[in-house]
Formats: sequence, structure tokens, C-alpha cells
Amino acid sequence: MAALTEKRRPTEVRVWDPFVRIAHWLLAAAFLVSYLTEGKPQWLHVWSGYLVAAIVVLRIVWGLVGPRHARFADFVPSPRAALRYLADLVRLRAPRHLGHSPAGGAMIVALILSLSITAGTGIALLAIRENQGPLAPWLGGQVVAAAPTPSKPGERVPKPGRMVKEVHELFSNLTLLLVGFHVLGVAVASFAHRENLVRAMITGRKRAPDPSARQAAAE
Ligand code: HEM
Ligand code: HEM
Repeated sequence: MAALTEKRRPTEVRVWDPFVRIAHWLLAAAFLVSYLTEGKPQWLHVWSGYLVAAIVVLRIVWGLVGPRHARFADFVPSPRAALRYLADLVRLRAPRHLGHSPAGGAMIVALILSLSITAGTGIALLAIRENQGPLAPWLGGQVVAAAPTPSKPGERVPKPGRMVKEVHELFSNLTLLLVGFHVLGVAVASFAHRENLVRAMITGRKRAPDPSARQAAAE
């Protein structure tokens, strides 16, 4: 009986290394804290934002030197491949991929770019407004010195770095939108391929490829 169950249960293979998994869940948590704090309290916003920035930088390095399924070369698709996969996915006939699918790969590139701009403008804003952080020596002193001062008491003057703040807010909202599509894509792909991708991002393991199925061509 035990042997029978063993025979029926498909074997699993390791796909996501511990760095990818820990970085993913830390990034998700740090992004949500940054988004929800909206700049205040500043210490929490800034430190969760720095965590986002650090994970993004490390993930980029890992994408160049990490193991096979973590590498950009393994999953960054051509736009055509990503669109073809999406069109097949909505018809529930997309081939299964052991690593990231072409649409998943395109989403990762978009998330990394959008997160980099959000964190980068945040760091610039902190330098301009508070003369703090790693960009303070370049942006802090000059902009604060050039900031307009009220000519009469009580007059409201625009704070410096308004444009940077607009871009920071725009990209933090764009990232949230991408995250919404990312989670939707994970749900649809999990349904289409009858596998729990969230569990795979926790355990690192996925069902071994079935050599007789179409998926084999897509590994
Ligand atoms: C609770 C919400 C989330 C769930 C359920 C989730 C789930 C997943 C899953 C299952 C994968 C692997 C996809 C695949 O099999 O190809 C993945 C990858 C990824 N997700 Fe999420 N995710 C969530 C939130 C986020 C957030 C908030 C971010 C960033 C702001 C994010 C960024 C990424 C990135 C960058 C990858 C690529 C992982 C890598 O190769 O390093 N995710 N996510
Ligand atoms: C990457 C994740 C981040 C997200 C999602 C995010 C999101 C936001 C949002 C929504 C606001 C409010 C904008 C408004 O009120 O119009 C804000 C403000 C701000 N953020 Fe971020 N941020 C992130 C990272 C950072 C980082 C890394 C820093 C600096 C190290 C930073 C510094 C600031 C500052 C200084 C403000 C302005 C606070 C104020 O003057 O009211 N942010 N951020």
C-alpha cells in the first residue's frame, strides 16, 4: 500500500534556492510596510524602504551569479514570448515551466525596475527634504540652501523636491498595481497548472516535470 502511494505521488524537485525565497517574502513585507506608512512615521518608512532597496540590489546580483532558476538568463523573456504565454494562459493551454514562466519573468523585470525607481526617488527625497541618507552629500545641502524662504510670517512656501515626491508617489502606486497583477498571475497560473505556486515559493520545491506532457518542451 505504502509502495502504491509512493508510486502515485509525483516526485518533487528543488527550484527556488533559500536566498530567492527569503528575499521574496522579506521584500513583500518590507514593500507593504513602506507603502502603508506613506512616509510617516519616517523612521519606519525609511528603514523598510532601505530594506526594499537592499533586497533589490542583492536580487540583481543574484540574478547574475546565482543558481540556474535564479538567473536572469533563465527567465527574462522576449516580449513576444511573454505575450504568447499570456494569450495561452487565458485559454488555459499555456505550457508549464519549472522556473518562472515568460509572463512571470516579464513581471519580475517590471517589479525590479519600478521598485528601484521608488526606492531611488525616496532616498533622493530624504536627502533633499531632511539632508539625510546616502545622497545627502550630493543633494542635501544645495537644495535646502536654495529653498525659498517665506517673505512674511505665516506665508506658505512650496517644500523643496516636489517633483521628486510626485515621482516617488507615482512609482509606489505603480508598484502596487504591478503587485496586484503579479498575485493575480500567480493565482491563474497555479489554477492552470494545478499546482500551488505560493507553496513552492515557501518550500522551494515543485512537481518534477512529466516527461510525457507538453510542459517538457518548456522546461
Ligand atoms: C502576498 C502576496 C504575494 C504572493 C502570494 C506572491 C507569490 C509569488 C510567487 C508564487 C512567486 C513565484 C512565481 C513563479 O512561480 O514564477 C513570486 C515571485 C516573485 N514575487 Fe511575489 N508574491 C507576493 C507579493 C510580492 C510583492 C509585494 C513583491 C514585490 C513588491 C513581489 C515580488 C516578486 C518577485 C521579485 C518575484 C521573483 C522571485 C525571484 O525570482 O527572486 N511579490 N511571488
Ligand atoms: C520602496 C518602497 C517605498 C514606498 C512604497 C514608498 C511610498 C511612499 C509614499 C506613498 C509616500 C507618501 C507620498 C505623499 O504623501 O505624497 C512616501 C513619502 C516619502 N518617502 Fe517613501 N516609499 C518607499 C521607499 C522610500 C525610501 C527608501 C525612502 C528614503 C530612504 C523614502 C522616503 C520618503 C520620504 C522622505 C517621504 C516624504 C515624507 C513627507 O515629507 O511627508 N521612501 N513614500
